[in-house]
Amino acid sequence: MLCLGIETSCDETSASVVENGRRIRSNIISSQIEIHSKYGGVVPELASRRHVEQVSTVVDAALREAGVSLKEIDLIGATCGPGLIGALLVGLSYAKALAFAGRIPFVGVHHVEGHIHAVTLEEEVPYPYLCLVVSGGHTELIHVRRFGEYRILGKTRDDAAGEAYDKVAKMMGLGYPGGPVLDRLAADGNSRFTRFPRSMLADESLDFSFSGLKTAVLNFLLRNGWGPEGEGAEGLQEHLSDIAASFQEAVIEVLMAKTMKALHQEGLQRVALAGGVAANRMLRRRLAEAAEAEGFTCFLPSSVLCTDNAAMIAAVASGYSAMGMEDDLTLNAVAGLPLGHRFAREAVQEKGGSTGP
Ligand code: KG4
Ligand code: ZN
Repeated sequence: MLCLGIETSCDETSASVVENGRRIRSNIISSQIEIHSKYGGVVPELASRRHVEQVSTVVDAALREAGVSLKEIDLIGATCGPGLIGALLVGLSYAKALAFAGRIPFVGVHHVEGHIHAVTLEEEVPYPYLCLVVSGGHTELIHVRRFGEYRILGKTRDDAAGEAYDKVAKMMGLGYPGGPVLDRLAADGNSRFTRFPRSMLADESLDFSFSGLKTAVLNFLLRNGWGPEGEGAEGLQEHLSDIAASFQEAVIEVLMAKTMKALHQEGLQRVALAGGVAANRMLRRRLAEAAEAEGFTCFLPSSVLCTDNAAMIAAVASGYSAMGMEDDLTLNAVAGLPLGHRFAREAVQEKGGSTGP
């Protein structure tokens, strides 16, 4: 069973061919970093336009690399939310058009559900498991009971972890995206250089908050005369690694504490990392060390499957198709799509209602 996946929810245009929901035959990712970096973040209108320019080239490349033609594709899956609405519409409309023209079954996929299953393309992950989704748009602890059944245990109340990395990097004059740069700098820094707040650490809930940390870094920079965007940077250069390490320590200490708490609270033995921040080397090391010390199993996807990609979308589409849950071509994109929408929609349809747009 060959599935063509398409992902355009943010700033990556991606297409992939996945065989039997598991084997990646191709996974083409065209990043828009160059376009957005000069603005220090993703500009939605520019993202949509670039997706329009790229989508057919990227899909063709994915088919070519997999050595198949559209005629051989059994299923098409595309991200239908959450994400930037203009960006989502490009990939979704393109996918539906291909499905219509080729009479190919179609499944709309929740972006975070894709992240949750990314690691299953590399390793068998038995259910149930805990998934820590940490990306530019999401920070969530999710109890994955089985395929399609999720309970969100905690989420960020303001910024996502990746957003904090991006904004702090911008303040330090390090460009966009900030995660990989801060990751690299932190490796050579002293995390005891300064102590930034560990937001929500003492809070009973499994929720997160990163906006206070961002403000704390800004105040620290201003206090030292290092400007909000790295200007007047005398003295800043020599401390970049230490500031990065101190910031990263504050983020990772909270992520780790809440993840451990969730594992114990839910009585789970397995944890998977997902999302762009899951590529972070220190987070991966800390989780692996904790797993070793406390006897649970951790699953770490390789970097290319952490950041946005269409293989994870094809994997989820294949799972739903195997359960006979395909969509008709009236399916629309929803910017704030909730996780678990699929079963909610089935339930509404059974009652003869409507789920709205
Ligand atoms: O999953 P993703 O590609 O897109 C979203 O769905 O948001 O995640 C992108 C985010 C960006 O904020 C980026 O700075 C962050 O992931 N990121 C990292 C690392 N690599 C990417 N954050 C920390 N350490 C990294 N190595
Ligand atoms: Zn993502």
